Amino acid sequence: MTTVDLLIVGAGELVTMAGGPRRGVRLKDPAAISGGALAAKEGRIVAVGLADEVLAAVRTGPDTCVIDARGRAVIPGFVDPHTHLCFAGDRAEEFALRLGGATYQEIAARGGGILNTVRATREASQAELVALGLRRLDQLALAGTTTVEVKSGYGLTTEHELKQLRAIREMDRRHPLTVVPTFMGAHEVPPEHRSRPEAYVDLLVEEMLPAVAVERGLARFADVFTEKGVFSVADSRRILQRAKELGFGLKVHADELSDLGGAMLAAEMGAISAEHLLHASDEGLRRLAEAGTVAVCLPGTSFCLMNAPYARARRMVELGCTVALASDYNPGSCPAYSMPFMITLACMHLGLDPSEALAAATINAAAAIGLESEVGSLEVGKLADVVILSSPTHRHIPYHMGMGVVAQVVKQGRLIVDDGRILRR
Ligand code: NIG
Ligand code: FE
Repeated sequence: MTTVDLLIVGAGELVTMAGGPRRGVRLKDPAAISGGALAAKEGRIVAVGLADEVLAAVRTGPDTCVIDARGRAVIPGFVDPHTHLCFAGDRAEEFALRLGGATYQEIAARGGGILNTVRATREASQAELVALGLRRLDQLALAGTTTVEVKSGYGLTTEHELKQLRAIREMDRRHPLTVVPTFMGAHEVPPEHRSRPEAYVDLLVEEMLPAVAVERGLARFADVFTEKGVFSVADSRRILQRAKELGFGLKVHADELSDLGGAMLAAEMGAISAEHLLHASDEGLRRLAEAGTVAVCLPGTSFCLMNAPYARARRMVELGCTVALASDYNPGSCPAYSMPFMITLACMHLGLDPSEALAAATINAAAAIGLESEVGSLEVGKLADVVILSSPTHRHIPYHMGMGVVAQVVKQGRLIVDDGRILRR
């Protein structure tokens, strides 16, 4: 019998999300066990299921951390598969302008928006970006996120994109959360290329993507903002094609502000995920379902943009898409990172039921970053990434509007958040 490092007992409800990513009616099934327990050794789950069975299968020792959930719900740590959390500066003034009626696009056209953050991020050193990022990762951990994707895209030159990606790699090394890096040099056309945007596409294809590819582990995915006035479908296809040749997985910011055919492009290119999709057509969604491209919904962005629609998640489910949720945490269109809040918005505005929204924020979110065999569910062999809620069932997450719902967080078998506080090693 193995002596385990961690044992969680007394779960009122143990939501396992076992059985892989979910589509259609299966999205509603959290694979929950009442009275379950979980044991972990060396960061991975070694036993999970009915408490009697788990307790019969493992042994505790003097160094075992035993957590009594005292009737509260135990769920997989949240996976946030889409953030832009590596940035400097803030855009509080733009938020005020938007409250006064200016749109996100109008602000961007005046040189604000993404370019505003590009200026601040270019001025920041790698060490400053790391320090800001580590503080943000702490905030995510407090809200129950245990795995997060982070994009570059506020550098927009080879030098500054590499600086951002190296900062992201450093955050991953220094913080307990799992950080998955994405290169997003195709986030915006930088000011110095505004008169000839084609030259920036050339730079991306000929210099930036290859430079990122040679430094091993710097980015797992490449992402493109396919949008009117940013990257056309043809430009995006060219960038994605090159990225694919260089071995990156593909992601697309698709149909966020208009229906440009981004979802169809993501499906055509075999992207792992298409994100936003606020304006995606039925045809676009159908193709995502066929291609097995995960449809990532970011309701925090619609909420924050105020004049934007919400993604048609119910329709996505009907059409057979794998639907995931993410925060889009960034300084402009969604300065919020809480996955419990995203679950709340998904229930209130995307038409998802609380169990569906949780599946979208865990196992399906893991599929959006290719980590469904490592995280997103509580199954033997996977990372022991676990959240103990402050309430008896997962259905309380949206009911409490996502506030105060996370009591404890375990990352790779180690307690990192206890009673609303980050624990230091
Ligand atoms: O996903 N759409 C482009 N990128 C972000 C916004 C980034 C920003 O405004 O800084 C998004 O919404
Ligand atoms: Fe985004």
